[in-house]
Amino acid sequence: MAIKFHESTKTFHLFNKEVSYLIHILDNGHLTNLYYGKALRDKEDFTYLYDTYTAVNLPICVPEPGSIKLNYTRQEYPVYGTGDYRTPALTIFQQNGSFVVDFKYASYEIYAGKREIKPLPSTYVESEDEATTLEITLHDEVMDTDLVLTYTIYENYPVITRNARFLHKGSESIVIDRAMSASVEFPDMDFEFTQLSGAWARERYVKNQKLEMGTHSIQSLMGTCSSGEQNPFVALKRPDATETQGEVYGFSFVYSGNFVAQAEVSTHDITRFMMGINPEGFSWKLEAGETFQTPEVVMVYSNEGLNKMSQTYHRLYRTRLVRGQWRDKSRPILLNNWEATYFDFDEEKLLKIAKKASEVGVELFVLDDGWFGARNDDYRGLGDWYVNLEKLPSGIAGLSKKVEELGIKFGLWVELEMVNKDSDLYRAHPDWILHVPGRFDSHQRHQYVLDFSRKEVVDYIYEMIAKILRESSISYIKWDMNRYMTEPYSVIANPCDQGRVMHKYILGVYDLYERLTSEFPEILFESCASGGTRFDPAMLYYAPQTWCSDDTDASERVKIQYGTSYVYPIVSMGSHVSAVPNHQLHRITPIETRAAVAYFGTFGYELDLNLLSDAEIETVKKQIKFMKAHRDLIQIDGDFYRLQSPFEKNEAAWMVVSQDKKEAVVGYYQKLNKVNGSWMRLKLQGLDSDTLYEVSYDISPIASYDAKIAEAYGAQVDDSTIRSYKAYGDELMYAGICIDREVLNKKGGDFSAIIFNVKAE
Ligand code: GLA
Repeated sequence: MAIKFHESTKTFHLFNKEVSYLIHILDNGHLTNLYYGKALRDKEDFTYLYDTYTAVNLPICVPEPGSIKLNYTRQEYPVYGTGDYRTPALTIFQQNGSFVVDFKYASYEIYAGKREIKPLPSTYVESEDEATTLEITLHDEVMDTDLVLTYTIYENYPVITRNARFLHKGSESIVIDRAMSASVEFPDMDFEFTQLSGAWARERYVKNQKLEMGTHSIQSLMGTCSSGEQNPFVALKRPDATETQGEVYGFSFVYSGNFVAQAEVSTHDITRFMMGINPEGFSWKLEAGETFQTPEVVMVYSNEGLNKMSQTYHRLYRTRLVRGQWRDKSRPILLNNWEATYFDFDEEKLLKIAKKASEVGVELFVLDDGWFGARNDDYRGLGDWYVNLEKLPSGIAGLSKKVEELGIKFGLWVELEMVNKDSDLYRAHPDWILHVPGRFDSHQRHQYVLDFSRKEVVDYIYEMIAKILRESSISYIKWDMNRYMTEPYSVIANPCDQGRVMHKYILGVYDLYERLTSEFPEILFESCASGGTRFDPAMLYYAPQTWCSDDTDASERVKIQYGTSYVYPIVSMGSHVSAVPNHQLHRITPIETRAAVAYFGTFGYELDLNLLSDAEIETVKKQIKFMKAHRDLIQIDGDFYRLQSPFEKNEAAWMVVSQDKKEAVVGYYQKLNKVNGSWMRLKLQGLDSDTLYEVSYDISPIASYDAKIAEAYGAQVDDSTIRSYKAYGDELMYAGICIDREVLNKKGGDFSAIIFNVKAE
């Protein structure tokens, strides 16, 4: 059992081979954190790790005895108003107007396995021996409320998950204004705060900042989603930690709505980190007998740098967060018509694109926005989930059948949480949107947010979309969500319950996902929110992949996918080859580079293949063949290693290595080309030192390479395609592979890429 309670020292020890977490019950009944870090051998007494400050002149925690000064105590769940002047994990408003609470240790339970926290998504176990759980119950006598802190430690991962639950028993109602899912304190401030920040079309850039006294925080107030601005993830890393060595603590929030994550450093250098639902706009009233459950925080410890942290998240999320039939399967190569046609299509045009796609080896054709209601532009139609027969006379049922007759599967785009005012749905139910009567309704892309905090709204949308899914042959759904929330107010909620609306909205989204994925378990769901503005772990619980970004430029995608890989598995990243000039950046990159980036994701195309040259079509066929041969390795079996950051250099690189270390695929990318540049070496990782590998890479010029012009300028062009050599794993990892500038020239110079195959002899 990986959790022990040492009765004589009142200490809980959560530990496995890699990590230890120590909680001690203080004399006043509060919980203090003694240690969180690399695994320690278990013993009875760790209480010497409790630092006491007796000389300082601040209030002593009520009630007596002792000298416990909460402002200097590393607490498990700090509160406001009893001598701790830092940010609390909890504030509860009581009927006498007070916020003062005093939760004291009452009891504990340790059990094998891990329980669900429905209706919220969470990581899970498949058998009880995979994890052990500790639930510590604290009690506030005056309110008569229980607070249950839950900790699960996985047996084979350096992972501890946390959440908090309230059970109110008292006759007077209480209002929870703030309830973090986890609060963790460290005895020093020697950390950098690493976050994934950005905006639409440049999501999840890696940002790093040294902690200082005071508070550093990230948050979302977007309501409908975790946001493209800040991902619900933070790593606290030691300043000397790198990708491969040093201590890193990852915190990832399994939630899709408003969140806050912050590190507060006190003037005595204690770092308090907390993560939970954003208290802004949130309040939750509890009557006697009611409970409130916070979402889960997944904490990963690594003392082998950021890469190990990411690999842990990847494996845990891929196998114990994602569910359903697609969990362990590599993904179909798809073609999506959005950037090929936008709203301008009819059945004939779509079938022409689908036919070409099937000819080159694509396995799934996805019809994006524009197939329903009067949706010929983004001003109208959202909410009317029935087919536009003018565009598609044989309906979705007929079209899906015709696409399947071409030998490929059919998928469909939906945006179920939204409505345009110019729609039958809005005309029938104008009060179904979030809005404050008598005030202006803000829109984004001419659309409004349906009030998913109301069950009847979710029920109605469920019936509409389920009907189409039942009648047609649909293998894939892209579930989009293209705006942030404004005027978060539900016309049917009581004034004092408006603080529930944003959280209940997210629960409504989860409910709809749960119903649809249960009724249609064979459908592959991909979540999307204006690209990647709702790329969070909770979405992965329902939809095993997420459209990474609306920015499909290959060079920008290297940054976006690199940042995303801090937490999210490669197989979860929706990534497509799109047309050039790129529709977002107007940049031209070779089709080979676009594929070399998209290989490290779900892989697909988002263009009209009929518009490509013969040479490009041959290249596309080769790409699809390559992906089919390598997708099990890249998406399911392999471990991902970041080798060179695009945020630091002109060049970037990453690789995937199979579990048995017999095979690897390496992607190398450069932004601008250099003339007469210096030598470049790329050191690989994760290989077996003693194994002899063959390294091979395609050196043929790209499809759009103009050989004549190149020759006129003296560039070498030959037709030989594969260059290869043999080397042991230690050579490849410590001496590195040479990056050939001549090959980069042939691969297009600027924005070129090389894919290396590494295979054991
Ligand atoms: C969002 C998505 C795109 C596309 C459009 C359709 O922007 O991110 O991929 O589906 O909506 O309107």
